[in-house]
Amino acid sequence: MTDPVLRATGLGRVFDTPAGPVTALADVDLEVSAGEVLVVRGASGAGKSTLLALLATLDRPTSGEVVVDGQAVGSLSEQRLADLRRDRLGVVPQSFGLIPVLSAAENVEVPLRVRRTSVARRDARVAEVLGLVGLAEHAGQRPDELSGGQQQRVGIARALATRPALLVADEPTAQLDAVNARRVVDLLLAEAAEHGLAVVVATHDDDLAARATRVLTLASGRPA
Ligand SMILES: Nc1ncnc2c1ncn2[C@@H]1O[C@H](COP(=O)(O)OP(=O)(O)OP(=O)(O)O)[C@@H](O)[C@H]1O
Ligand SMILES: [Mg+2]
Repeated sequence: MTDPVLRATGLGRVFDTPAGPVTALADVDLEVSAGEVLVVRGASGAGKSTLLALLATLDRPTSGEVVVDGQAVGSLSEQRLADLRRDRLGVVPQSFGLIPVLSAAENVEVPLRVRRTSVARRDARVAEVLGLVGLAEHAGQRPDELSGGQQQRVGIARALATRPALLVADEPTAQLDAVNARRVVDLLLAEAAEHGLAVVVATHDDDLAARATRVLTLASGRPA
C-alpha cells in the first residue's frame, strides 16, 4: 500500500460574517492516493469550492487538518508551504485565475519558471500541455482574446505543466462544450492512470463521476 498523497480528517470551515458565523463545511474525511480520482459533487452552495480551497492549501480550516505527502499543512512554515505548492500541487480555480497581460503560453509557463525549469524544457512542455487541451493554435492569445472555455483549458494546462503529484480542480469542465469536456475528462483520467496523478475534482459531470475512484457528495457542507 502506498501512503495517500492527500488526507483530510474532521475538516471544517466556519466563516465569520456580519450576520454571524456561517458553517460552509463540516466533518469531511477523505483520502486520495497516487492514481486515484476523487469527485466532489453537490448543489451550488454545498461547499465544494470551500473544500477544494482547503485541500489546495489556499485557505486554512477552522477544524480538522489537511495532510499532503504525510505532512500536516497547518504545521508547515510559509516557506515549506510555498515549496509544497511549487513542487507537488496543481490548482485549477473555479474562476481560472489567469494573468490578463500574459498570453496563453506565458500563463502556462509561469509555474515552470517558478520551478526554474530550463528554457528548452519549458518551451517543450508548454507546447505539449497546450496541445493536450486543444489550444496549440491559440498559444499567443491573451485571456481577453480567448473564450471562457478556452481560458478554462489554459488554466488546466497551467496546472498540469509541472507534472504535479496532486491536482485540485474546481469545476474544470463547467464552461466546456461536450467535446472539450470529454477531452478534459479523458486527459485527467489519463494523467491519473499513466502518471499516478492524484486528482480531486469538483464537478457536475456524470461521465467523470462514473469513472472516478470515489465520489464525495456534499449537502449543506456535510458529506451526504
Ligand atoms: N468567504 C465566505 N464568507 C462567508 N460565506 C462563505 C464564504 N465562502 C463561501 N461561503 C458560503 O459557504 C457555502 C459554500 O460555498 P461554496 O462556494 O463552497 O459552494 P460550492 O459548492 O462551490 O457552490 P458552486 O457550485 O456554486 O460553486 C455557501 O453558503 C457560501 O455562501
Ligand atoms: Mg464552487
